[in-house]
Amino acid sequence: MKTRLTTLLGIEHPIVLPGMTYIAVPELVAAVSQAGGLGILASGALNPEACRQAIRTIRSLTDKPFGVGCSLMMPGASECAEVALQEQVPVINVSMGKGEWVVERARTYGGKVITTVSSEKHARSAIESGVDGLIVTGHEAAAHGGAVSSMVLIPAVRDMTDLPLIAAGGFADGRGLVAALALGADAVAMGTRFASSAESPVHPDTKQLILAKEAEETIYSPNFDTFPCRVMKTPGGQRYTARKLSPPVAITRSVKAARELNRPLSGLVRDTLSLGLVGAVKVAYFGAATLAMRKAIHEANHVDGVQLIGQSQGLVHDVASVAEIVDRVMAQARTVAANVSGL
Ligand SMILES: Cc1cc2nc3c(=O)[nH]c(=O)nc-3n(C[C@H](O)[C@H](O)[C@H](O)COP(=O)(O)O)c2cc1C
Repeated sequence: MKTRLTTLLGIEHPIVLPGMTYIAVPELVAAVSQAGGLGILASGALNPEACRQAIRTIRSLTDKPFGVGCSLMMPGASECAEVALQEQVPVINVSMGKGEWVVERARTYGGKVITTVSSEKHARSAIESGVDGLIVTGHEAAAHGGAVSSMVLIPAVRDMTDLPLIAAGGFADGRGLVAALALGADAVAMGTRFASSAESPVHPDTKQLILAKEAEETIYSPNFDTFPCRVMKTPGGQRYTARKLSPPVAITRSVKAARELNRPLSGLVRDTLSLGLVGAVKVAYFGAATLAMRKAIHEANHVDGVQLIGQSQGLVHDVASVAEIVDRVMAQARTVAANVSGL
């Protein structure tokens, strides 16, 4: 299947593993790229040296194209983007910040830059910044999907640009891939589906919980990390989203998270304060949220932890290998496309 995205990146299938903190680790990234899709490393929990090491591990596992995701607003993210540029990573996926400097530097070695957006307004400014493609994240998505469903947001963004678009939010099988292509996208990003794959580092009990949950068993709330965020409906998810943490608790937890990540506190404070008071408080909430995410992902603790998950959990019925998932998505997409064209 050839689309604008497969042609741009030289990949076989229009399927992407999006950045997921603690989940999109080198082994999973390499498995998706090796299966013919595009794996994107999540750099949010990595310091620059760990990011460089992760990039080298991916390269030792596959010679196929892969990406590195950087949420530019987060402390340390620009340093990881710098490492990705130095290592000449084929694709850099930026979000939450101005990525012009990344585009300029990636051009020098032929790297491609893809920006994640969740609204028409974000899409407009990303297009102006000269990026090579967009991940368009609709309301159904795990974590930070937009206010508008994928069904409307993707064609709305397609009306603005001819750039390759990757549809994210609610896509977990071949039916979703054909639907995304029909809406004007050139690929799908599947977070929830790959988080429950055999190669994913998510705790086995959490994977079983994903299989058991229905589509409607999620919560979309700004109380988890200050941006509207979709999490699984669990005791932890319900408690965390019932009301916002107080700023002092958020700051204390985020400092704890930074210590656990071996982030030098002086640099963290400098980077955070450079964002201004509102930005600094937002980053503190993000830091606090990472502790809860880790408890759910690594310990299957859904009382103290919070699991990010999309509505597409209702479409996940087994834990399969990445290669099996990619094969099934492509086979089902071909059947569905043939059925639709035969109507
Ligand atoms: C378990 C899980 C963890 C995620 N973690 C992050 C994250 O740390 N940061 C982020 O921006 N998006 C995160 N995402 C969102 C994905 O990048 C992607 O936008 C989303 O999964 C797409 O929707 P889908 O879940 O319906 O496939 C996560 C998604 C899942 C399923």
